[in-house]
Amino acid sequence: TRVLSVASECAPLVKTGGLADVAGALPAALAPLGVDMRTLLPGYPAVMDALGAADVVAEVGDLFGGSACLLAGEAAGLDLFVLDAPLLFDRGAGIYLNGDGVDWPDNPERFAALCRVAADLAAGSLGHWRPDLVHCHDWQAGLVPYYLKRNAVGVPSVLTIHNIAFQGLVPMDRAKALGIAKADLTREGVEYWGQISALKAGLLHADRLTTVSPTYARELMTPEFGMGLDGVLQSRKADLSGILNGIDLDVWSPEVDGHIRPYKTLRGKAANKAPLRAEFGLPEAAGPLCVVVSRLTAQKGLDLLLDALPALLDRGGQLALLGSGDPALEAAFASYDHPGVAVRIGYDEALSHRMMAGGDAILVPSRFEPCGLTQLYGLRYGTLPVVALTGGLADTVIPATPATMAKGVATGLQFHPVTADALSNALMQLCDLFETPKLWSKMQRNAMAQPVGWAPSAAAYAALYDDLVKAAE
Ligand code: ADP
Ligand code: GLC
Repeated sequence: TRVLSVASECAPLVKTGGLADVAGALPAALAPLGVDMRTLLPGYPAVMDALGAADVVAEVGDLFGGSACLLAGEAAGLDLFVLDAPLLFDRGAGIYLNGDGVDWPDNPERFAALCRVAADLAAGSLGHWRPDLVHCHDWQAGLVPYYLKRNAVGVPSVLTIHNIAFQGLVPMDRAKALGIAKADLTREGVEYWGQISALKAGLLHADRLTTVSPTYARELMTPEFGMGLDGVLQSRKADLSGILNGIDLDVWSPEVDGHIRPYKTLRGKAANKAPLRAEFGLPEAAGPLCVVVSRLTAQKGLDLLLDALPALLDRGGQLALLGSGDPALEAAFASYDHPGVAVRIGYDEALSHRMMAGGDAILVPSRFEPCGLTQLYGLRYGTLPVVALTGGLADTVIPATPATMAKGVATGLQFHPVTADALSNALMQLCDLFETPKLWSKMQRNAMAQPVGWAPSAAAYAALYDDLVKAAE
Protein backbone atom coordinates (compact mmCIF):
# COMPACT_ATOMS: atom_id res chain seq x y z
CA THR A 1 0.00 0.00 0.00
CA ARG A 2 1.36 3.40 -0.97
CA VAL A 3 0.58 6.07 1.62
CA LEU A 4 1.31 9.77 1.45
CA SER A 5 1.76 11.21 4.93
CA VAL A 6 1.23 14.97 5.13
CA ALA A 7 2.73 16.69 8.14
CA SER A 8 3.97 20.12 9.15
CA GLU A 9 6.84 18.70 11.23
CA CYS A 10 8.78 15.47 11.28
CA ALA A 11 11.56 14.28 13.59
CA PRO A 12 14.50 14.41 13.44
CA LEU A 13 14.36 17.10 10.74
CA VAL A 14 12.04 19.65 12.31
CA LYS A 15 10.17 19.38 15.59
CA THR A 16 8.14 21.45 18.00
CA GLY A 17 6.35 18.60 19.74
CA GLY A 18 5.14 15.02 19.67
CA LEU A 19 3.54 15.32 16.23
CA ALA A 20 7.06 15.34 14.79
CA ASP A 21 8.01 12.20 16.70
CA VAL A 22 4.95 10.39 15.40
CA ALA A 23 5.31 11.52 11.78
CA GLY A 24 8.99 10.61 11.93
CA ALA A 25 8.47 7.15 13.42
CA LEU A 26 5.47 5.90 11.45
CA PRO A 27 7.19 5.16 8.11
CA ALA A 28 9.74 2.78 9.65
CA ALA A 29 7.12 1.21 11.91
CA LEU A 30 4.85 0.58 8.91
CA ALA A 31 7.43 -0.62 6.39
CA PRO A 32 7.55 -4.21 7.73
CA LEU A 33 3.77 -4.34 7.29
CA GLY A 34 4.03 -3.65 3.58
CA VAL A 35 3.21 0.05 3.74
CA ASP A 36 5.30 2.30 1.49
CA MET A 37 4.91 5.62 3.25
CA ARG A 38 6.31 8.83 1.85
CA THR A 39 6.11 12.04 3.78
CA LEU A 40 5.30 15.43 2.29
CA LEU A 41 6.92 18.28 4.23
CA PRO A 42 7.24 22.03 3.76
CA GLY A 43 10.64 23.15 2.53
CA TYR A 44 11.72 24.90 5.73
CA PRO A 45 15.45 25.72 5.84
CA ALA A 46 16.15 22.76 8.17
CA VAL A 47 14.40 20.37 5.79
CA MET A 48 16.12 21.78 2.69
CA ASP A 49 19.53 21.48 4.38
CA ALA A 50 18.89 17.89 5.45
CA LEU A 51 17.66 16.95 2.00
CA GLY A 52 20.80 18.13 0.22
CA ALA A 53 20.81 17.38 -3.49
CA ALA A 54 17.33 16.27 -4.51
CA ASP A 55 15.45 15.79 -7.74
CA VAL A 56 12.85 18.27 -8.87
CA VAL A 57 9.95 15.97 -9.65
CA ALA A 58 7.38 18.60 -10.53
CA GLU A 59 7.08 22.30 -11.16
CA VAL A 60 4.19 23.54 -9.05
CA GLY A 61 4.09 27.02 -10.55
CA ASP A 62 2.71 29.92 -8.57
CA LEU A 63 1.63 29.37 -4.97
CA PHE A 64 0.27 32.49 -3.29
CA GLY A 65 2.58 34.80 -5.22
CA GLY A 66 5.80 32.80 -5.22
CA SER A 67 7.09 30.06 -7.46
CA ALA A 68 7.31 26.55 -6.11
CA CYS A 69 8.48 23.11 -7.05
CA LEU A 70 8.25 19.64 -5.60
CA LEU A 71 11.42 17.80 -4.65
CA ALA A 72 11.87 14.12 -3.87
CA GLY A 73 14.70 12.64 -1.89
CA GLU A 74 15.81 10.98 1.28
CA ALA A 75 16.90 12.39 4.61
CA ALA A 76 17.41 10.70 7.97
CA GLY A 77 16.10 7.47 6.48
CA LEU A 78 12.79 9.06 5.44
CA ASP A 79 11.41 9.04 1.90
CA LEU A 80 10.38 12.62 1.39
CA PHE A 81 8.51 14.89 -0.91
CA VAL A 82 9.42 18.46 -0.07
CA LEU A 83 7.49 21.50 -1.18
CA ASP A 84 10.19 24.00 -2.09
CA ALA A 85 8.32 27.30 -1.94
CA PRO A 86 10.79 29.91 -0.64
CA LEU A 87 8.22 32.67 -0.28
CA LEU A 88 6.22 30.49 2.12
CA PHE A 89 8.81 28.42 3.95
CA ASP A 90 12.29 29.93 3.64
CA ARG A 91 12.12 31.92 6.86
CA GLY A 92 14.06 32.28 10.08
CA ALA A 93 12.41 32.18 13.53
CA GLY A 94 9.92 29.34 14.05
CA ILE A 95 8.01 27.11 11.69
CA TYR A 96 4.67 28.45 12.96
CA LEU A 97 5.70 31.58 14.87
CA ASN A 98 7.62 34.69 13.90
CA GLY A 99 10.41 36.19 15.99
CA ASP A 100 7.87 37.79 18.34
CA GLY A 101 6.25 34.46 19.10
CA VAL A 102 3.16 35.29 17.05
CA ASP A 103 1.66 33.05 14.34
CA TRP A 104 2.91 33.93 10.87
CA PRO A 105 -0.04 35.85 9.40
CA ASP A 106 -0.03 33.72 6.27
CA ASN A 107 -0.05 30.35 8.07
CA PRO A 108 -3.39 29.44 6.46
CA GLU A 109 -1.93 30.00 2.99
CA ARG A 110 1.36 28.27 3.82
CA PHE A 111 -0.36 25.07 4.85
CA ALA A 112 -3.12 25.32 2.25
CA ALA A 113 -0.29 25.27 -0.29
CA LEU A 114 1.02 22.06 1.24
CA CYS A 115 -2.50 20.57 1.12
CA ARG A 116 -3.02 21.55 -2.48
CA VAL A 117 0.18 19.81 -3.52
CA ALA A 118 -0.80 16.72 -1.50
CA ALA A 119 -4.18 16.57 -3.21
CA ASP A 120 -2.47 16.91 -6.60
CA LEU A 121 -0.15 14.03 -5.77
CA ALA A 122 -3.18 11.95 -4.87
CA ALA A 123 -4.79 12.93 -8.16
CA GLY A 124 -1.78 11.45 -9.94
CA SER A 125 0.23 14.57 -10.75
CA LEU A 126 3.48 12.62 -10.69
CA GLY A 127 2.58 9.65 -12.81
CA HIS A 128 5.23 7.32 -11.39
CA TRP A 129 4.12 7.40 -7.73
CA ARG A 130 0.52 7.85 -6.78
CA PRO A 131 -0.66 7.12 -3.24
CA ASP A 132 -3.46 4.66 -2.52
CA LEU A 133 -4.31 6.72 0.55
CA VAL A 134 -3.39 10.02 2.19
CA HIS A 135 -2.72 10.22 5.94
CA CYS A 136 -3.12 13.79 7.19
CA HIS A 137 -1.88 15.14 10.51
CA ASP A 138 -3.60 17.96 12.38
CA TRP A 139 -5.06 21.19 10.97
CA GLN A 140 -2.05 21.89 8.79
CA ALA A 141 -3.13 18.96 6.62
CA GLY A 142 -6.85 19.50 7.23
CA LEU A 143 -7.63 20.88 3.80
CA VAL A 144 -6.33 17.76 2.02
CA PRO A 145 -9.54 15.72 2.57
CA TYR A 146 -11.57 18.75 1.53
CA TYR A 147 -9.63 19.25 -1.70
CA LEU A 148 -9.83 15.53 -2.47
CA LYS A 149 -13.60 15.47 -2.10
CA ARG A 150 -14.09 18.76 -3.87
CA ASN A 151 -12.07 17.61 -6.87
CA ALA A 152 -13.64 14.15 -6.77
CA VAL A 153 -10.28 12.45 -6.39
CA GLY A 154 -11.19 8.91 -5.38
CA VAL A 155 -8.25 8.42 -3.03
CA PRO A 156 -9.28 7.83 0.60
CA SER A 157 -7.92 9.91 3.45
CA VAL A 158 -7.32 9.52 7.17
CA LEU A 159 -7.00 12.54 9.43
CA THR A 160 -5.24 12.13 12.76
CA ILE A 161 -6.01 14.64 15.49
CA HIS A 162 -2.91 15.20 17.59
CA ASN A 163 -4.26 18.24 19.34
CA ILE A 164 -7.68 19.80 18.85
CA ALA A 165 -6.55 23.02 20.53
CA PHE A 166 -5.02 24.03 17.19
CA GLN A 167 -7.79 24.52 14.67
CA GLY A 168 -6.30 26.45 11.79
CA LEU A 169 -8.65 29.42 11.90
CA VAL A 170 -8.82 31.79 8.94
CA PRO A 171 -10.96 34.88 8.32
CA MET A 172 -13.81 34.14 5.89
CA ASP A 173 -12.63 36.65 3.31
CA ARG A 174 -9.68 34.39 2.53
CA ALA A 175 -11.92 31.47 1.50
CA LYS A 176 -11.59 32.09 -2.20
CA ALA A 177 -7.81 32.30 -2.14
CA LEU A 178 -7.72 29.03 -0.22
CA GLY A 179 -9.95 27.33 -2.77
CA ILE A 180 -12.91 26.91 -0.45
CA ALA A 181 -16.31 27.09 -2.11
CA LYS A 182 -18.78 29.70 -0.95
CA ALA A 183 -21.41 27.02 -0.44
CA ASP A 184 -19.22 25.40 2.20
CA LEU A 185 -18.94 28.48 4.39
CA THR A 186 -21.77 27.37 6.65
CA ARG A 187 -22.14 25.96 10.14
CA GLU A 188 -22.70 22.54 8.62
CA GLY A 189 -19.61 23.21 6.50
CA VAL A 190 -16.21 24.58 7.37
CA GLU A 191 -17.38 27.63 9.32
CA TYR A 192 -16.37 27.82 12.98
CA TRP A 193 -17.61 30.78 14.98
CA GLY A 194 -17.45 33.23 12.10
CA GLN A 195 -14.17 31.96 10.70
CA ILE A 196 -13.01 29.05 8.60
CA SER A 197 -11.41 26.12 10.42
CA ALA A 198 -9.00 24.05 8.35
CA LEU A 199 -9.25 21.33 10.99
CA LYS A 200 -13.04 21.22 10.72
CA ALA A 201 -12.72 20.89 6.95
CA GLY A 202 -10.63 17.79 7.55
CA LEU A 203 -12.93 16.41 10.24
CA LEU A 204 -15.89 16.64 7.88
CA HIS A 205 -14.26 15.25 4.76
CA ALA A 206 -11.68 12.66 5.77
CA ASP A 207 -12.92 9.10 5.29
CA ARG A 208 -11.70 8.10 8.74
CA LEU A 209 -10.61 10.06 11.78
CA THR A 210 -8.16 8.91 14.36
CA THR A 211 -6.65 10.42 17.44
CA VAL A 212 -3.69 9.32 19.46
CA SER A 213 -5.31 7.47 22.37
CA PRO A 214 -8.62 5.68 23.02
CA THR A 215 -9.44 7.87 26.02
CA TYR A 216 -8.86 11.10 24.10
CA ALA A 217 -11.09 9.75 21.31
CA ARG A 218 -13.94 9.55 23.84
CA GLU A 219 -13.06 12.85 25.50
CA LEU A 220 -13.05 14.67 22.16
CA MET A 221 -16.76 14.04 21.79
CA THR A 222 -17.51 15.95 25.02
CA PRO A 223 -17.87 19.71 25.45
CA GLU A 224 -15.14 19.70 28.10
CA PHE A 225 -12.47 18.52 25.66
CA GLY A 226 -13.88 19.04 22.16
CA MET A 227 -13.07 22.77 22.03
CA GLY A 228 -16.26 23.48 20.14
CA LEU A 229 -15.80 20.63 17.67
CA ASP A 230 -17.34 17.94 19.91
CA GLY A 231 -20.58 18.07 17.91
CA VAL A 232 -18.78 17.52 14.63
CA LEU A 233 -16.89 14.63 16.18
CA GLN A 234 -20.05 13.08 17.58
CA SER A 235 -21.54 13.22 14.12
CA ARG A 236 -18.55 11.18 12.94
CA LYS A 237 -18.42 8.84 15.90
CA ALA A 238 -18.61 5.71 13.71
CA ASP A 239 -15.48 6.80 11.85
CA LEU A 240 -13.43 7.96 14.84
CA SER A 241 -10.99 5.75 16.70
CA GLY A 242 -8.07 6.12 19.08
CA ILE A 243 -4.73 4.54 18.17
CA LEU A 244 -2.15 4.97 20.87
CA ASN A 245 1.20 6.51 19.99
CA GLY A 246 4.32 4.44 20.47
CA ILE A 247 7.87 5.64 20.85
CA ASP A 248 10.81 5.03 18.57
CA LEU A 249 12.79 2.39 20.45
CA ASP A 250 15.88 2.99 18.32
CA VAL A 251 16.03 6.50 19.73
CA TRP A 252 14.47 6.01 23.16
CA SER A 253 15.93 2.90 24.78
CA PRO A 254 18.35 3.10 27.70
CA GLU A 255 20.31 0.13 26.34
CA VAL A 256 21.33 1.94 23.16
CA ASP A 257 20.94 5.63 23.99
CA GLY A 258 24.11 7.46 22.93
CA HIS A 259 23.28 10.52 25.04
CA ILE A 260 23.51 8.69 28.37
CA ARG A 261 25.49 6.05 30.24
CA PRO A 262 23.57 3.19 28.65
CA TYR A 263 21.93 0.71 31.00
CA LYS A 264 19.91 -2.46 31.17
CA THR A 265 19.54 -2.64 34.94
CA LEU A 266 18.52 -0.35 37.78
CA ARG A 267 22.13 -0.31 38.95
CA GLY A 268 23.13 1.01 35.58
CA LYS A 269 20.38 3.60 35.73
CA ALA A 270 21.63 4.84 39.09
CA ALA A 271 24.95 5.81 37.49
CA ASN A 272 23.11 8.47 35.49
CA LYS A 273 21.73 10.30 38.51
CA ALA A 274 24.78 12.02 39.98
CA PRO A 275 25.89 13.44 36.60
CA LEU A 276 22.38 14.82 36.05
CA ARG A 277 22.33 16.44 39.50
CA ALA A 278 25.76 17.90 38.80
CA GLU A 279 24.64 19.22 35.43
CA PHE A 280 21.69 20.98 37.05
CA GLY A 281 23.69 22.13 40.07
CA LEU A 282 21.45 20.18 42.45
CA PRO A 283 22.83 18.85 45.74
CA GLU A 284 22.38 15.33 47.07
CA ALA A 285 18.92 14.89 48.56
CA ALA A 286 16.82 12.29 50.37
CA GLY A 287 13.71 12.49 48.20
CA PRO A 288 13.02 11.64 44.54
CA LEU A 289 14.60 13.65 41.74
CA CYS A 290 11.61 14.63 39.60
CA VAL A 291 12.05 15.78 36.01
CA VAL A 292 9.83 17.66 33.56
CA VAL A 293 10.46 17.98 29.81
CA SER A 294 7.66 19.97 28.29
CA ARG A 295 6.28 22.82 26.30
CA LEU A 296 5.28 25.41 28.90
CA THR A 297 1.63 26.01 28.03
CA ALA A 298 -1.68 25.90 29.87
CA GLN A 299 -2.32 22.42 28.41
CA LYS A 300 0.56 20.94 30.35
CA GLY A 301 -0.73 22.03 33.79
CA LEU A 302 2.67 23.10 35.05
CA ASP A 303 1.16 26.06 36.89
CA LEU A 304 -0.32 23.38 39.17
CA LEU A 305 3.18 22.08 39.77
CA LEU A 306 4.29 25.53 40.94
CA ASP A 307 1.64 25.29 43.66
CA ALA A 308 2.37 21.67 44.52
CA LEU A 309 6.16 22.03 44.63
CA PRO A 310 6.53 23.09 48.30
CA ALA A 311 5.04 19.77 49.41
CA LEU A 312 7.61 17.85 47.34
CA LEU A 313 10.53 20.02 48.44
CA ASP A 314 9.54 19.67 52.12
CA ARG A 315 9.97 15.93 51.78
CA GLY A 316 13.45 16.31 50.32
CA GLY A 317 12.31 15.89 46.73
CA GLN A 318 13.82 17.86 43.87
CA LEU A 319 12.78 19.19 40.48
CA ALA A 320 14.83 19.51 37.29
CA LEU A 321 12.78 21.15 34.54
CA LEU A 322 13.51 21.65 30.85
CA GLY A 323 10.99 23.58 28.81
CA SER A 324 10.01 26.67 26.92
CA GLY A 325 6.88 28.46 25.87
CA ASP A 326 4.61 30.83 27.75
CA PRO A 327 6.81 33.72 29.04
CA ALA A 328 4.96 33.97 32.37
CA LEU A 329 5.50 30.27 33.10
CA GLU A 330 9.12 30.47 31.96
CA ALA A 331 9.67 33.36 34.37
CA ALA A 332 7.87 31.66 37.25
CA PHE A 333 10.05 28.56 37.00
CA ALA A 334 13.28 30.39 36.18
CA SER A 335 12.90 32.61 39.24
CA TYR A 336 11.81 29.81 41.62
CA ASP A 337 14.23 30.26 44.45
CA HIS A 338 14.98 26.97 46.18
CA PRO A 339 18.10 24.82 46.20
CA GLY A 340 16.01 21.79 45.22
CA VAL A 341 14.72 23.35 42.00
CA ALA A 342 16.81 23.75 38.84
CA VAL A 343 15.42 25.03 35.57
CA ARG A 344 16.63 25.17 31.96
CA ILE A 345 14.56 27.33 29.67
CA GLY A 346 15.04 26.20 26.10
CA TYR A 347 14.83 23.20 23.85
CA ASP A 348 17.53 20.54 24.18
CA GLU A 349 17.03 17.06 22.78
CA ALA A 350 20.25 15.59 24.24
CA LEU A 351 19.54 16.96 27.71
CA SER A 352 16.05 15.49 27.58
CA HIS A 353 17.61 12.03 27.19
CA ARG A 354 19.95 12.59 30.13
CA MET A 355 16.96 13.66 32.23
CA MET A 356 15.03 10.50 31.40
CA ALA A 357 18.04 8.43 32.39
CA GLY A 358 19.00 10.32 35.54
CA GLY A 359 15.59 11.17 36.99
CA ASP A 360 13.61 9.10 39.49
CA ALA A 361 10.20 10.30 38.32
CA ILE A 362 8.75 12.32 35.46
CA LEU A 363 5.83 14.66 36.11
CA VAL A 364 3.10 15.19 33.50
CA PRO A 365 0.20 17.08 35.16
CA SER A 366 -1.60 17.94 31.90
CA ARG A 367 -5.12 19.37 31.84
CA PHE A 368 -5.61 17.47 28.60
CA GLU A 369 -3.21 15.21 26.78
CA PRO A 370 -4.10 13.53 23.50
CA CYS A 371 -1.37 10.94 24.07
CA GLY A 372 1.81 12.33 25.58
CA LEU A 373 5.20 10.85 24.86
CA THR A 374 7.38 11.83 27.80
CA GLN A 375 5.54 9.49 30.18
CA LEU A 376 6.30 6.70 27.70
CA TYR A 377 9.98 7.62 27.68
CA GLY A 378 9.79 7.64 31.48
CA LEU A 379 8.39 4.10 31.53
CA ARG A 380 11.07 2.84 29.19
CA TYR A 381 13.85 4.41 31.29
CA GLY A 382 12.48 3.31 34.68
CA THR A 383 11.66 6.91 35.56
CA LEU A 384 8.25 6.59 37.15
CA PRO A 385 5.55 8.75 35.58
CA VAL A 386 3.28 10.86 37.79
CA VAL A 387 0.45 11.83 35.47
CA ALA A 388 -2.97 13.42 35.40
CA LEU A 389 -5.81 11.02 34.74
CA THR A 390 -6.65 12.28 31.27
CA GLY A 391 -6.28 11.32 27.60
CA GLY A 392 -3.35 9.13 26.70
CA LEU A 393 -1.91 9.52 30.19
CA ALA A 394 -4.86 7.48 31.45
CA ASP A 395 -4.19 4.80 28.84
CA THR A 396 -0.47 4.33 29.37
CA VAL A 397 0.23 4.37 33.10
CA ILE A 398 -0.92 1.68 35.54
CA PRO A 399 -1.45 3.65 38.73
CA ALA A 400 -0.20 2.47 42.10
CA THR A 401 -3.33 1.53 44.08
CA PRO A 402 -3.71 -1.08 46.79
CA ALA A 403 -4.98 -3.50 44.16
CA THR A 404 -2.25 -2.94 41.55
CA MET A 405 0.44 -2.98 44.23
CA ALA A 406 -0.91 -6.25 45.59
CA LYS A 407 -0.79 -7.72 42.09
CA GLY A 408 2.63 -6.15 41.49
CA VAL A 409 1.71 -4.44 38.21
CA ALA A 410 1.82 -0.69 38.94
CA THR A 411 4.03 1.44 36.69
CA GLY A 412 3.42 4.98 37.96
CA LEU A 413 1.00 7.33 39.70
CA GLN A 414 -2.17 8.97 38.43
CA PHE A 415 -4.09 11.80 40.02
CA HIS A 416 -7.47 13.42 39.53
CA PRO A 417 -9.10 15.86 39.55
CA VAL A 418 -6.37 17.80 37.80
CA THR A 419 -5.72 20.24 40.64
CA ALA A 420 -2.69 21.35 42.62
CA ASP A 421 -4.04 19.54 45.70
CA ALA A 422 -4.42 16.24 43.95
CA LEU A 423 -0.96 16.65 42.41
CA SER A 424 0.47 17.40 45.87
CA ASN A 425 -1.10 14.23 47.20
CA ALA A 426 0.36 12.21 44.35
CA LEU A 427 3.79 13.70 45.05
CA MET A 428 3.42 12.70 48.71
CA GLN A 429 2.55 9.17 47.64
CA LEU A 430 5.60 9.26 45.38
CA CYS A 431 7.82 10.22 48.33
CA ASP A 432 6.31 7.40 50.44
CA LEU A 433 7.05 4.87 47.72
CA PHE A 434 10.53 6.26 47.25
CA GLU A 435 11.18 5.62 50.93
CA THR A 436 10.25 1.97 50.41
CA PRO A 437 13.00 0.84 48.01
CA LYS A 438 11.54 -2.63 47.47
CA LEU A 439 8.24 -1.25 46.18
CA TRP A 440 9.99 1.47 44.21
CA SER A 441 12.34 -0.85 42.36
CA LYS A 442 9.48 -3.27 41.66
CA MET A 443 7.58 -0.44 40.00
CA GLN A 444 10.66 0.58 38.05
CA ARG A 445 11.06 -2.95 36.71
CA ASN A 446 7.36 -3.09 35.80
CA ALA A 447 7.69 0.26 34.03
CA MET A 448 10.72 -0.80 32.01
CA ALA A 449 8.95 -4.00 30.96
CA GLN A 450 5.76 -2.27 29.80
CA PRO A 451 5.54 -2.39 25.99
CA VAL A 452 5.70 1.15 24.60
CA GLY A 453 6.94 0.57 21.05
CA TRP A 454 5.05 1.09 17.84
CA ALA A 455 4.26 -2.50 16.85
CA PRO A 456 0.59 -2.83 17.96
CA SER A 457 -0.36 0.65 16.80
CA ALA A 458 1.45 0.33 13.48
CA ALA A 459 -0.61 -2.80 12.90
CA ALA A 460 -3.78 -0.85 13.72
CA TYR A 461 -2.89 1.87 11.20
CA ALA A 462 -2.01 -0.71 8.56
CA ALA A 463 -5.38 -2.44 9.08
CA LEU A 464 -7.18 0.89 8.83
CA TYR A 465 -5.39 1.73 5.57
CA ASP A 466 -6.22 -1.72 4.19
CA ASP A 467 -9.92 -1.35 4.93
CA LEU A 468 -10.10 2.01 3.22
CA VAL A 469 -8.03 1.06 0.20
CA LYS A 470 -10.08 -2.10 -0.35
CA ALA A 471 -13.32 -0.15 -0.04
CA ALA A 472 -12.07 2.39 -2.58
CA GLU A 473 -11.14 -0.24 -5.20
P1 ADP B 1 3.30 17.76 22.89
O1 ADP B 1 3.37 17.22 21.50
O2 ADP B 1 1.94 18.17 23.29
O3 ADP B 1 4.30 18.82 23.15
P2 ADP B 1 4.29 15.12 23.66
O4 ADP B 1 4.57 14.57 25.01
O5 ADP B 1 3.51 14.30 22.73
O6 ADP B 1 3.64 16.56 23.89
O7 ADP B 1 5.65 15.37 22.88
C1 ADP B 1 6.60 16.33 23.27
C2 ADP B 1 7.91 15.98 22.61
O8 ADP B 1 8.74 17.12 22.61
C3 ADP B 1 8.68 14.91 23.36
O9 ADP B 1 9.49 14.21 22.44
C4 ADP B 1 9.53 15.74 24.32
O10 ADP B 1 10.65 15.06 24.75
C5 ADP B 1 9.87 16.90 23.44
N1 ADP B 1 10.15 18.16 24.16
C6 ADP B 1 9.25 19.04 24.66
N2 ADP B 1 9.86 20.11 25.19
C7 ADP B 1 11.19 19.89 25.03
C8 ADP B 1 12.37 20.64 25.38
N3 ADP B 1 12.27 21.81 25.99
N4 ADP B 1 13.57 20.12 25.05
C9 ADP B 1 13.64 18.92 24.42
N5 ADP B 1 12.59 18.18 24.08
C10 ADP B 1 11.37 18.66 24.37
C1 GLC C 1 0.12 16.52 20.41
C2 GLC C 1 -0.36 16.19 21.81
C3 GLC C 1 0.39 15.07 22.48
C4 GLC C 1 0.65 13.94 21.51
C5 GLC C 1 1.35 14.47 20.28
C6 GLC C 1 1.67 13.38 19.24
O1 GLC C 1 1.10 17.49 20.36
O2 GLC C 1 -0.37 17.35 22.63
O3 GLC C 1 -0.36 14.58 23.57
O4 GLC C 1 1.46 12.94 22.12
O5 GLC C 1 0.53 15.39 19.64
O6 GLC C 1 0.52 12.69 18.83
